[in-house]
Amino acid sequence: MPVALVTGASSGIGHTFARTLAARGYDIVAVARDKQRLDALAVDVSAQHGRTVDVLPADLTDAGQLAVVEDRLAAGPPVDLLVNNAGFGARARFAEHDPDAIEAEIRLNVIALTRLTRAALPPMLARRSGAVVHVSSFASFQAAPTWAVYTATKAYVTSFSESVHEEVRGSGVRVLALCPGMTTTGFQERNAFDPSRVPRVAWSTPEAVVEVALRDLERGRAVSVPGLSNKAMVALSHLLPRALARRTAAAVANRL
Ligand SMILES: NC(=O)c1ccc[n+]([C@@H]2O[C@H](COP(=O)([O-])OP(=O)(O)OC[C@H]3O[C@@H](n4cnc5c(N)ncnc54)[C@H](OP(=O)(O)O)[C@@H]3O)[C@@H](O)[C@H]2O)c1
Repeated sequence: MPVALVTGASSGIGHTFARTLAARGYDIVAVARDKQRLDALAVDVSAQHGRTVDVLPADLTDAGQLAVVEDRLAAGPPVDLLVNNAGFGARARFAEHDPDAIEAEIRLNVIALTRLTRAALPPMLARRSGAVVHVSSFASFQAAPTWAVYTATKAYVTSFSESVHEEVRGSGVRVLALCPGMTTTGFQERNAFDPSRVPRVAWSTPEAVVEVALRDLERGRAVSVPGLSNKAMVALSHLLPRALARRTAAAVANRL
């Protein structure tokens, strides 16, 4: 049976990845801090799809706990798909942002994701098979005041992912940057952002996001942007002069 290791599998997009992959025949290694929610996922997946969920609770901002997950990828039974999904984006004006929260965000969104990919790739390359999905954001293409750290971490994720995608071209291993827009997971509420100010047309469900990601991974794409309105916004941010795109993003961020 193929095995997928999913970080942030206790809720939202990661939870949906775990359930969707189990429905497609994967056994799951589920990583997040909340063991109870991971245990509930394991019971659910086993009952609904007859697949195994290996619960691996870890705070990925902690170097020691991260090392356990790295070891699972590098030296444990083969992992066919790594979904580097765990992430958060605290909203604050940078000069007022808690320095420890800034560091935790960079540790999770950047350091953990990078180290897990570094651990996963050598065995995949040796087998000439496997895939890594990096959950970035459509915000990775655009500066966004009050999310300075978040958008910078996601710009890293998309750029890093595209570079590694090209490095492994022709190796049998695939790498995808998934860049969702607003997705109905509760992420916004957890990150000091009022979702009622975003028009309904801009939202996707986690199920739709995961469906598009897996389709684009299958097609060998480097970057996946689910949703027509998100695709249009990303295209516009590439077309507009950088200063104009930045000022527009600032106006939107201030409105939100
Ligand atoms: N929802 C959106 O609108 C949206 C849009 C674009 C991109 N994204 C990206 O999508 C990814 C998933 O977000 P989501 O919307 O599904 O949010 P979510 O429901 O808040 O899920 C975040 C996941 O990350 C895990 N996590 C948080 N801190 C962690 C830590 N220190 N160690 C290990 N796991 C940790 C959480 O589990 P525990 O709390 O149990 O640890 C949870 O499972 C993120 O990378 C986010 O940036 C989301």
